[in-house]
Amino acid sequence: MSAILPPSDRLWWKQPLDRVEGTWILIAFIWCMIMFAMMVGWHIYGKQNLSTETYKTTREMYTAKTQAMVDKYTVRTETDRKIPVVHPPAGSDVYLIARLWDWWPVLELEKDKTYRLHLTSMDYNHGFSLQPVNINIQVVPGYEHVVKVTPNQSGIFSIVCNEYCGIGHANMAGRIYVK
Ligand code: CUA
Repeated sequence: MSAILPPSDRLWWKQPLDRVEGTWILIAFIWCMIMFAMMVGWHIYGKQNLSTETYKTTREMYTAKTQAMVDKYTVRTETDRKIPVVHPPAGSDVYLIARLWDWWPVLELEKDKTYRLHLTSMDYNHGFSLQPVNINIQVVPGYEHVVKVTPNQSGIFSIVCNEYCGIGHANMAGRIYVK
C-alpha cells in the first residue's frame, strides 16, 4: 500500500490490527495513564509547583499593602535604581510585585522562619521562578497568590520570569536574600 494513493480497501478499520501497531497503541496508552497519574501525584509529592491560595485583588489595593511593607521595613537600597531591600519580621505577610520588567522590592528573609508570600502582577502574566531551587508559581494580574514559604537554606536566590512577557522578559529578574 502506498501513502500517496488511496487505500485499495477503504474500510481500513475493518482490517485486522497488526501486532506491532497494537503493541505501540498499548505502550502509548499506558504512558498516557502514567502521565495522568503524575499530574495528581506531582501536585501532592512535588516540591516545585506550590499550591497557592488565590484571592481577587486590584492594583491599587495590592500596591498599597506592598508600599506599606516597604515604608516600614526597608533596611537599605541597592543599585543605581535604589531598589528597596525589605526585611519584614519573621512570620509576617510579605509582598512582591511582578511588572514589566522587574520584581519589586528585594526581600530579605530569615532562615527557618515561615512567611506568607503574596504575589501579583501589575500588568500581564508573569512566572515566578525561584532559582536555584526551581520553585515555580504563575503570577496573574487581578489575583493575589499567597504561598507559605519557609526558607531552609541561606543565600542569595534569584527570581526569574518564566512566562514570556515581552521585549524585557529576559531581563526580568529579582532577588531574595535568606539570612
Ligand atoms: Cu515577566 Cu516574562
